[in-house]
Amino acid sequence: MSKKAKVSVNPNFKIGEISKRLYGAFLEPIGTMVNGSMYNPNHPTADEQGFRKDWIDALKEFGIPAVRLPGGNFVSGWDWKDSIGPKDLRKKHLDLAWHQYYTNDIGHDEYLQWTEKIGAEPMYTLNLGTGDINDAVYNVEYTNHEGGTYWSDLRKKNGHDKPYGVKMWYLGNEMDGPWQVASWEKDPKAYGVKANEVSKAIKWVDGTIETAVCVSSSPDVLHYPDWDEKVLRECYNSVDYVSLHMYQSAAIGNYAQFMAAARYYEDYIRTEIGLCDYVQTLCRSPKKMMLSFDEYGTMFLPQQEIHFGREVYIEPGTYYPQHNDREYILHDPNNMGEMYSHRFGSPILSALGNAGVLLEMLRHADRVKIACMTGGLGTAATTSAEGVYITPGHYTYLDLLRYGQGVSLTPVVECEKFDVASFAIDDNHKSPEQKDVDLIDCAAAFNEEKGELTVFVINRDWEEDAEFTLNVSELDGYRFDSHYEMFSEDLESNDAAPVKNEETKADGTVVTAGLKKLSWNVFRFVKD
Ligand code: AHR
Repeated sequence: MSKKAKVSVNPNFKIGEISKRLYGAFLEPIGTMVNGSMYNPNHPTADEQGFRKDWIDALKEFGIPAVRLPGGNFVSGWDWKDSIGPKDLRKKHLDLAWHQYYTNDIGHDEYLQWTEKIGAEPMYTLNLGTGDINDAVYNVEYTNHEGGTYWSDLRKKNGHDKPYGVKMWYLGNEMDGPWQVASWEKDPKAYGVKANEVSKAIKWVDGTIETAVCVSSSPDVLHYPDWDEKVLRECYNSVDYVSLHMYQSAAIGNYAQFMAAARYYEDYIRTEIGLCDYVQTLCRSPKKMMLSFDEYGTMFLPQQEIHFGREVYIEPGTYYPQHNDREYILHDPNNMGEMYSHRFGSPILSALGNAGVLLEMLRHADRVKIACMTGGLGTAATTSAEGVYITPGHYTYLDLLRYGQGVSLTPVVECEKFDVASFAIDDNHKSPEQKDVDLIDCAAAFNEEKGELTVFVINRDWEEDAEFTLNVSELDGYRFDSHYEMFSEDLESNDAAPVKNEETKADGTVVTAGLKKLSWNVFRFVKD
């Protein structure tokens, strides 16, 4: 007999407004993401700037709302000023973060113009590693100032008459990471002071912008959350968001660890909200700090040897890009080669992993206002050398983007639960035990303007299907519209796509359905 599960949703139990930026993506010139997928001047679809039009069209149609760019670790050693103006005068540099040559053929203006072409909001990461306050001030002046100054007139001369109007500025990337060029790992207070000064100054250039300050790059690092508090004390009043990153890993083939990932995100979000509110009180500030999850992912990794006494100590050689004997690579934009990806996933599980994180964000929609999926652009539309294709992750992402709008509601879940014992995948990924993780993962979005209520449900159970009841009470004037499900018997298959479940029954707004194991489900109610 299959397990029983029930979810109740009441439109009066509101969590908060869902920000459109929750469905953003993260872009960085690693491997072929920029040189190959974005920029490929010999591609049959290349436009006048060398951008692949097939990818632009696919992303535009998908409707990616926001992209955080141009990195990532990359930005901490990058000088944006070397990347503007005539291409033949731009400087080629070593990118120490990813051991590659960076030609600057794709520079500051190209990144912003490409996001204009895909119709997304650019969210810009400033270099607060090697970059100084003037680099940041000149950048915002070049990017956003109307004209009449050296930097804003230079933008015009370089072909973009109108200001780009970038609203969101990140004050560096993972500034606590020892892998970062010019890391502030050892001095959170000094980074907090610098972030404060940069944030103040760039807001003096453009009073409409928002800023995000880096806190610990992961809840796995040992200085978390102490490092975060030290930073925030110095800049609480001048910034608007904390910038959070999280890559939750599971050992290959361990479904319990993988399907419990969102619980680790929940712990992280709760701690960070608590910390921000604590510093708010310390600062006697009226401002509530919001959360920007500007890099996230859930993945399988191969089990590594764990070293006693080396908890979350990151040796130079252990971090992926930092093998000191690695050759510097020049990525040929016209030769896609191997894509940078987290290779150990299954397409359907990757889709459920990212969707599970987004459901967690929806359940904290009052405080999590930005989220950027790592690899999100490739999830929306995957590129090969020839063209663009769709994977299961496209569908979960699109469902959330389309229907996860309006106000997030509190779902009450009654179901069986599972435990996860503490585990370590490598010295950098160590996860405490979790008790009583729901087998049913759920979030609900009420879009009153459009007259739609959508309930997203993941059946995390990797062993059996569930008999499911969804009770949406006090939803006067609405009727059940549809239940779409996506699952795959073959976890390695790329072919799963949502299908309407015609057997799902509704009695008013009480719906009964079967939920396939490891499945994605979208229940929709519409106004009569
Ligand atoms: O996504 C790759 C890297 O992961 C980013 O550059 C960095 O911010 C994070 O550590």
